[in-house]
Amino acid sequence: MKELSSKQLRQMYLDYFKSKGHAIIPSASLIPENDPTVLFTTAGMHPLVPYLLGAKHPEGRRLANVQKCVRTGDIDAVGDASHCTFFEMLGNWSLGDYFKKEAIAFSYEFLTSGKWLGIDPGRLYFTCFAGDADAPKDTESADIWKNLGVDESHIFFLDKKHNWWGPAGMTGPCGPDTEMFIDTGTAPCSDTCNPSCGCGKYLEIWNDVFMQYNKTAEGAYEPLVQKNVDTGMGLDRTITILQGKASVYDTDVFAGVLSKIAELSGKSYNDDTGTTRAFRIIADHIRCAAFMIGDEKGITPSNVDQGYVLRRLIRRAVRYSLRLGMLELSLQQIARVVIAQYKDVYPEIGKNGERIISELGLEEERFQRTIKQGLREFEKLEARLEGKIISGIDAFHLYDTFGFPLEFTLELAHEHGLEVDQKGFDEAFAKHQEISGAGAEQRFKGGLADTGEATAKLHTATHLLHAALRQVLGDEVAQKGSNITAERLRFDFSYSRKVEPEELDEVERLVNEAIGAGVDIVCEEMSVDDAKQSGAIGLFESKYGNIVKVYTAGGFSKEICGGPHAANTGALGRFKIQKEQSSSAGVRRIKAVLENK
Ligand code: ALA
Repeated sequence: MKELSSKQLRQMYLDYFKSKGHAIIPSASLIPENDPTVLFTTAGMHPLVPYLLGAKHPEGRRLANVQKCVRTGDIDAVGDASHCTFFEMLGNWSLGDYFKKEAIAFSYEFLTSGKWLGIDPGRLYFTCFAGDADAPKDTESADIWKNLGVDESHIFFLDKKHNWWGPAGMTGPCGPDTEMFIDTGTAPCSDTCNPSCGCGKYLEIWNDVFMQYNKTAEGAYEPLVQKNVDTGMGLDRTITILQGKASVYDTDVFAGVLSKIAELSGKSYNDDTGTTRAFRIIADHIRCAAFMIGDEKGITPSNVDQGYVLRRLIRRAVRYSLRLGMLELSLQQIARVVIAQYKDVYPEIGKNGERIISELGLEEERFQRTIKQGLREFEKLEARLEGKIISGIDAFHLYDTFGFPLEFTLELAHEHGLEVDQKGFDEAFAKHQEISGAGAEQRFKGGLADTGEATAKLHTATHLLHAALRQVLGDEVAQKGSNITAERLRFDFSYSRKVEPEELDEVERLVNEAIGAGVDIVCEEMSVDDAKQSGAIGLFESKYGNIVKVYTAGGFSKEICGGPHAANTGALGRFKIQKEQSSSAGVRRIKAVLENK
């Protein structure tokens, strides 16, 4: 196996596919062109959707590139060893040209040949689609791997949850895939440990998708006019393996940025787990923010859509930089390292370098002002406090009126030997949403209400669950009750029998699909009659008054409700059903949680 730098891997990948007749195309913008259902480009195929559907690409039928991507569903998981919000995807495409045989042979040669990556074939494992009502078992791909010399014991057949990719938004090209994993060498988690178990022993490095279906808005899979290949290899992840590291943050990708953070903070990356996490969050978020601002369709921080995600990244980075004791406006210096590192590969980053620096500075200053005012207000509050508990209403007032993040109130309270009524904060938050009818932009004004956010996310997950249950079990399903805490959701619904495990799996999969699609939650106010007409589900009781709020999550769910909700399904994390049981006669109960991805 070759120990390559990230720069070498990027170049080697493009050289290989060029040698196989592929045109090298530039990375497209991070802001999707033709897909209003997602905020950011999440995969190399995303900008190519029209061509996968049959339009003629000016560069031909064999393409390859390195695409800048952002996946926002993982923001909360950043800080661990592997998650990043921004990443680069290496990809090659056949637009109705070669299919499984050639695509798999290319992948195998690039991975194992001594001329290229030279990975020991004994360390590689492969998964293929097991087949279902939508598409048959993919024995063809498995046979191709075997003909190339792969031992049968290294091939696994898995269901749609694992071996199907797409569409990138809610509709569009998709199909079964075959995935390539590397054995990291850690001990198996059980006797049945395999590439699907997620214990970390097997790391997915490349995915060959055979895009031969178009998913329609109704959820049907129509055969595509042309059979395509879409592949994706995570650059940062593959580099982690090639450099023999346990974390992407230990590779050359982050070396420059991390040493800059050490210099600016006077701390060391390995001081303790808290410091390591703070370094990683700052490094990831500033890299991502630099790419968002410096994009050819560059965005600026705001309270809606992409701008909100950007604001959240920058403010979170500021929070962690303060925690490390960094001086104000240090983040700009970190961004300079990012710009220097990437400007040759992504010229727009160099061209828009000054814009990146100034926008980062402006947003940091806005946030610093907010924090300072919040601190003053906190002191006033403390002076008039009787007892040791800050009420939920007071904490909410700091958040809502001064944009002071709840996390800061919690931290200060802790330092001063005080407590905060977090439940009261959640209640005040929820009540405010109901009264103000605020949209996503208002809801996240100024800061991050982490606890309120947890319940808002679970609330959105409840809508997706309700919709998925109706899709799998039919219209007999109707809400009978719902109870949400910061940790879990509980949903009661009418249904005459136990829900089978396969059905629960499918419900889980549908909800996670909606989360993966990263669609905005849109709130509209309308009369009850109009809501019914529009196909919204939910409780139509008069307690809502004549005008109701209808929350829509793309084509997945439309439901009458008081809110609050997450701004985008992508923020939810991974949805997991923990229990299905009887609640009363004809009523079933599901308990479920959202896990960090
Ligand atoms: N589009 C495929 C992926 O993102 C290759 O995994």
